[in-house]
Amino acid sequence: MNHKFYVTTPIYYPSGRFHIGTAYTTVLADSMKQYHKLKGEDAYMLTGTDEHGQKIEKKAEEAEKTPKQYVDEMAKMAKQLWARMGIEYDDFIQTTEERHEKVVQKIFDYFMEQGDIYKGEYEGWYCIPCETFFTETQLVDGKCPDCGRDVELMKEESYFFNMKKYADRLLQYYEEHPDFIKPEYRKNEMINNFIKPGLEDLCVSRTSFDWGIKVLKDSKHVVYVWLDALTNYITALGYLSEDDTLFKKYWPADLQIVGKDIARFHLIYWPIFLMALDLPLPKTILVHNWIMMKDGKMSKSKGNVIYPETLIERYGLDSVRYFLLREMPVSQDGIFSPEAFVERYNFDLCNDLSNLLNRTVSMVNKYFEGRVPEYKGTPNEVDKELEEYAISQIEKFDEKWNHYEIANSMQEIWNLIARTNKYIDETMPWALAKEEQTEKLESCMYHLIENLRKIAILIRPFMKDTADNIFRQIGIEEEDMKNWKNLKSYNKIQDTKVIEKGEPIFMRLNAEEEVEFLKNVMKSEKQ
Ligand code: ME8
Ligand code: MG
Repeated sequence: MNHKFYVTTPIYYPSGRFHIGTAYTTVLADSMKQYHKLKGEDAYMLTGTDEHGQKIEKKAEEAEKTPKQYVDEMAKMAKQLWARMGIEYDDFIQTTEERHEKVVQKIFDYFMEQGDIYKGEYEGWYCIPCETFFTETQLVDGKCPDCGRDVELMKEESYFFNMKKYADRLLQYYEEHPDFIKPEYRKNEMINNFIKPGLEDLCVSRTSFDWGIKVLKDSKHVVYVWLDALTNYITALGYLSEDDTLFKKYWPADLQIVGKDIARFHLIYWPIFLMALDLPLPKTILVHNWIMMKDGKMSKSKGNVIYPETLIERYGLDSVRYFLLREMPVSQDGIFSPEAFVERYNFDLCNDLSNLLNRTVSMVNKYFEGRVPEYKGTPNEVDKELEEYAISQIEKFDEKWNHYEIANSMQEIWNLIARTNKYIDETMPWALAKEEQTEKLESCMYHLIENLRKIAILIRPFMKDTADNIFRQIGIEEEDMKNWKNLKSYNKIQDTKVIEKGEPIFMRLNAEEEVEFLKNVMKSEKQ
């Protein structure tokens, strides 16, 4: 088995610090990549920064920098954050790189030649923060229907992309490819809100500002930032360049992950651009909802923003990655609250996971001087049932993860953790030791270690340090014992020792103090 897996995240507007919501997509993409790697597949992940457009031009001006200085600094910040969050991307593309700009020019040119792009005049409304065009009727109380901010009246010579031409083909594609859009209700949203009422042609160039990729044959125009940005998924792979090895290997993408606010761009315009280029479409585009706060969207003015660095510094990276994936149902919004974070930390990570490891390591030390007994089958029903339960949880996890039910898939792992904790209470190893039922006691210790190994493998895609820590404490060293290859088997651990004194991987937090701390941090970031 050595399939390839290509996963992308949207590229980010470099507009300041990323809050935990914006980090969600990239943490999920990285976890997906790690999961496929642990299965022995070749996985490749792309992310980057979206650096052109009127909004960036304005931001740079405010910061008294050239746009290029401004975006380079932001790209550097983004890379630092991803490093901090343990994101192992294979490529980071900036849309101001030559490898991207040249190809966007070629693509625009090709669309012109093919008659997909025609010249006209745009008259309508534009939202700069969203970089989106709206008609009068789409506005809500005269404001942007997406973000609620003021819009500007625009009237300028523009090129248009003939979207109407592709509308039927797109609908047919949706119908014939049920895996193309996840979750499915997003497909219906696109059809009912945008395609059925009649797809508008898209304005794809601007003349009233400069910060963009110049249209080769008409250099007073710059390419509309979305046509520019969306193509990053193929320009990064070398499409239409001298070396398109990566493109040949990885396109079409297996998975593109995007937030709900940019669903329309990825589910309508992006596939149409690909159709116009006669390229295959990504296999799946997963649209996720947002991480919200109890009082709505995260915003600096509300004083409810939480940054990943704050949480990582105080609680460690893995608890943050766990929380993000665990708390977000994908097809609905997830809520961040200090209470929920601290609760997950104390219950799921400390009580359930950390204690299971601790109890196990200390018992193996106490009863067998640290040596993990050998597997001799299942001497009783309880052990057998535990094995069957573990295998079925692994399968459930896999099934849900592959259907992008991420939060639910985590629940299956934590069910296994809970079941394994319960197994200790059921088998009562302390009583077995007292009664000198050595065979049963050996089997009990073996099963605990084996389940911990399985749990560590399952969490490894999103909690790498914790997984490594568990492997170290239970004495698992071989790489083949740390990945999917031997995940389901129960007879592979041999000649191992646990460490002499177990170390807690998560220490119980003082809930009141930490909730207070987090609330204060959020208030202090208010602007
Ligand atoms: O949209 N919870 O960039 P961006 C979860 N440059 N996800 C969130 C979120 C939240 N609270 N807030 C934002 C752009 N996001 C464009 C993309 S792609 C060719 C160009 C997500 O920095 C958001 O939905 O505004 C998007 O997927 C990502 O963060 C980047 O947003
Ligand atoms: Mg945005």
